Amino acid sequence: SHDLPLAGKRVLITAGPTQEALDPVRYITNHSTGTMGYALAEQARDLGAKVTLISGPVSINEPAGVHVIHVVSAQDMFAAVQEHYAHCDLAIMAAAVGDFRPEYVSKEKIKKHGKTTLELTLVANPDILAWAGAHKREQHPQILCGFAMETQDLIANASTKLRAKHADMIVANSLREEGAGFGTGTNIVTLLSPTASANSTLAGDGVYLTQFDRMSKPQVAQAILH
Ligand code: C5P
Repeated sequence: SHDLPLAGKRVLITAGPTQEALDPVRYITNHSTGTMGYALAEQARDLGAKVTLISGPVSINEPAGVHVIHVVSAQDMFAAVQEHYAHCDLAIMAAAVGDFRPEYVSKEKIKKHGKTTLELTLVANPDILAWAGAHKREQHPQILCGFAMETQDLIANASTKLRAKHADMIVANSLREEGAGFGTGTNIVTLLSPTASANSTLAGDGVYLTQFDRMSKPQVAQAILH
């Protein structure tokens, strides 16, 4: 209906960090709190969508009316996305997925003994967004949105990501700006897309940019879904 523009649509969202185990008591992770992904899930639900939220470990309560799947590692998240992706119309990858994991997970707690250094070998995790971009349905392909959080060359890097991962939109946010990124209630984003929309401007390399001032994460979620 007019009031619920996502009625009948299935939306898949990834959120939060991943944890990559080293041994039974330790892991590698990042500062993601899941706030942006959970805000997207709630806004999509409020617009009428059936929402599946694949979430890494966060301390946010499950939003009502959203199907939440809890995962720990990037490999777990990848498996859950592979299971649900074919059925969604729109996928938004907002998770801060660990790019690497320890090559071996020690069965026993790693002991320090007399060591003064400890070497870890890390191996690359699957890129879930890139997989999704390469596996869109032939009929009614999914609309795919990713994030780019950068500390330098934000738009150039986000633009490369848009093309390399076959995304339809990249939400770029700088970690260098006050009120943007991890652990804040607000974000400052630029949306990048290969197609024009209201208020977008064409950048030199054929990418359309829509810039927003600082907004609350629910407002950012609304802008992305709009
Ligand atoms: O290449 P980079 O990690 O900067 O891209 C970020 C985007 O890719 C985000 O949308 C993130 O959720 C997604 N991503 C992913 N799987 C990975 C790494 C990133 O889905 N292994």
